[in-house]
Amino acid sequence: MEINKFEDVFEGKLAKNEMIEPKDWMPENYRKHLIRQISQHAHSEIIGMLPEGNWITRAPSLRAKVVLLAKVQDEGGHGLYLYTAAETLGVTRDELLNNLHTGKAKYSSIFNYPTLTWADIGAVGWLVDGAAIMNQVMLQRSSYGPYSRAMVRICKEESFHQRQGYEIMTHLAFGTNDQKEMAQDALNRWWYPTMMMFGPPDSESPNSENAVKWRIKRETNDQLRQRFVDQTVRQVEYLGLTVPDAHLKWNEAKNGYDFTEPNWVEFKNIISGNGPCNKERLAARNKAHDEGKWVREAAQVFAKKRSEVYEAA
Ligand SMILES: [Fe+2]
Ligand SMILES: [Fe+2]
Repeated sequence: MEINKFEDVFEGKLAKNEMIEPKDWMPENYRKHLIRQISQHAHSEIIGMLPEGNWITRAPSLRAKVVLLAKVQDEGGHGLYLYTAAETLGVTRDELLNNLHTGKAKYSSIFNYPTLTWADIGAVGWLVDGAAIMNQVMLQRSSYGPYSRAMVRICKEESFHQRQGYEIMTHLAFGTNDQKEMAQDALNRWWYPTMMMFGPPDSESPNSENAVKWRIKRETNDQLRQRFVDQTVRQVEYLGLTVPDAHLKWNEAKNGYDFTEPNWVEFKNIISGNGPCNKERLAARNKAHDEGKWVREAAQVFAKKRSEVYEAA
């Protein structure tokens, strides 16, 4: 079969909403796009463990500690499913990790902000995991089979994460004046960084068009951001808090809110490595990787010995 025949099969599958599987022919740009997107996603899950892991020892009750611990462990699991999905595209785990550890690969800008108070753990679960769900629900129907299947399980866990965050916010927002102030302060600091999670405006997003064309993504950055604002404003109102945006206003004609865009200069600065915590996050990840070397070596020796026993039997 000539290349254009392969291409016809590929396009035909996309048109019929069928999945592309690792053994199928795919255009090189599609493969590259997926490796970039899935590995950035995996790195975000792993780096995302750091700002919250930071609070496990300081959780205000045993229940809160157990819940947070479970959530942070889930994020580690998400990273592993996603690295495995990326590996089916012909890239090795070592290459992927090396790109993260040397700062070559990107991860979500949001994890370069500090978690200063316990209310931040509430805001992260509620807003950051909430935004992640909005992005990820559509990825369950992504055209690449292994990515799509990983996302089904991830989404179930993300909705638990969102609820645990909102529960923390509810306790604080309906608590004492000081607690309510803490909740408002966390909302003020996390609102705009969360909106940045959907990526730059469509007019400046070079990868968005291909991602939609190939059915990797089903909606654009701006569509998702609008939906997030519309949904979250109601939750803010229920909590009796205020969205930190003086220009937020219901627009009847578009059946959604008008709102202030996040600061895109700040966003670019963070994704190029200069956010408040970029260096700290990479240093912590590298330290954890180096300290885990003996575990990886031991696991490999054990696996080798075990296969020798099976072969001899
Ligand atoms: Fe996750
Ligand atoms: Fe999560």
